[in-house]
Amino acid sequence: MSLQNLGHTCVVGLQWGDEGKGKIVDVLLENFDVVVRYGGGANAGHTVLIGSDKFALHQLPTGVLRPNVHAVIACGAVIDPATLIGEVDNLRARGVGVDRLAVSDRAQLVMPWHRREDVLAEQAAGAEARLGTTARGIGPCYSDKVSRRWGLRVCELFDADRFRSRVAQVVAHKNAYFGALYDFRETFNADTIADEYLAFAERLNPFVADTTTLLADAMADGKRVLYEGAQGSLLDIDHGTYPFVTSSSTGVGGVASGAGVPPTSIRSVIGVLKAYSTRVGAGPFPTELHDALGDQIREAGGEYGTTTGRPRRCGWFDAVAASYTVRTSGPTRLAVLHLDTLSGFDEVKICVGYQWRDQMMNTLPAATYRLDDVTPVFETHAGWHEDVSSCRSLNALPKSARAYLSRLSELLKTPIGIVGVGPARDQTIFVEG
Ligand code: GDP
Ligand code: IMO
Ligand code: MG
Repeated sequence: MSLQNLGHTCVVGLQWGDEGKGKIVDVLLENFDVVVRYGGGANAGHTVLIGSDKFALHQLPTGVLRPNVHAVIACGAVIDPATLIGEVDNLRARGVGVDRLAVSDRAQLVMPWHRREDVLAEQAAGAEARLGTTARGIGPCYSDKVSRRWGLRVCELFDADRFRSRVAQVVAHKNAYFGALYDFRETFNADTIADEYLAFAERLNPFVADTTTLLADAMADGKRVLYEGAQGSLLDIDHGTYPFVTSSSTGVGGVASGAGVPPTSIRSVIGVLKAYSTRVGAGPFPTELHDALGDQIREAGGEYGTTTGRPRRCGWFDAVAASYTVRTSGPTRLAVLHLDTLSGFDEVKICVGYQWRDQMMNTLPAATYRLDDVTPVFETHAGWHEDVSSCRSLNALPKSARAYLSRLSELLKTPIGIVGVGPARDQTIFVEG
């Protein structure tokens, strides 16, 4: 895969998140000038390993770790100022200068009532209906954005008197609403919250910009832009396993609206997949392994959430679900990560259909709840036992690992451009052609 001719590129997860987007963005950024987070918020957790230094970024794009790259958080993302400032301070304490960062003045602010409602709503839902959110206030913040009545945007932080009166208005509503609906005994204090956020405004001020204009100018100047998808396409609000999804457009469809750029400007899409499947939080997962094999994948792959530390649910590769997200995001190349994690299995499986009652399903149904009753239909392939973590070309991989990759590519009708054989930057195979 030639990295020179990619054009403006989107890196997007094709499963339920945590596919390794952070690593791929980090590796590709050598060839780009600007990196953009276009959706989601501090629910994301993108890990980058630079030498022996591990960084986990939530609110910031991973590009802030690259000294020559401009990092942008665009208007489709939601901004939790405390998290953002905390990450900037942490990085600076570790010697990473965060100077080339722009935060959209149009992005919505995550407010204390969003984080609180995320928790209250999950508690009220009861065990069966819980979504297993990251408790970062994402759903309530996007709900307020779409409702148009209670959302606050970054630009509003810079008109202090107006901001105070808007906060007072929203707080009166939230106190009444939460008190009526939830077990909510405390109340929000408008002055305390406004003071806190106006202090954040001073810290955010150097970063706040009209990122739509900034991106248009950068592209006109010939700068190369990389869009860093957050979450995965199966968590997309429209195309994912609703309602067990996040609240944003996580797929490539989210780039144009989330970043405010023309869809036609995107030339390449790198669809990131693990060589197996994981999911964190609630929701259907047809190929989930509830046995020792699932534990083996979890331990070998270090499958614990970057944001919440929760053990990730693990299972075989689901080509039915991935084919669906390939259709919605149209990757030009696949990046298949964690091939090393599958070393040590006698057999590896790929799900190619779902048996539901007397029907065979070969795509994701809209009625997500039916996925609880499907039996996955597997193809079984020979596994491999060799350690592949130092392989740097496809030819160096065991024959059965190569056959497995070819089959994934064939099922998803997309060439593989990158294979991951470990978390480090150099544990990456770039496939020729
Ligand atoms: P993201 O949310 O998509 O950026 O992914 P996360 O960072 O949440 O989770 C991916 C994890 O896998 C991180 O710990 C990465 O360091 C790690 N990782 C990425 N690629 C590989 C790979 O090819 N092999 C192994 N073993 N780990 C990888
Ligand atoms: P990255 O960018 C994996 C999941 C949560 C939950 C559902 C809704 O690291 O791939 P939310 O807090 O967004 O309302 O939670 O979505 N989820 C993720 N799972 N990776 C992520 O991000 C996720 N962001 C949200 O676990 O099931
Ligand atoms: Mg993650």
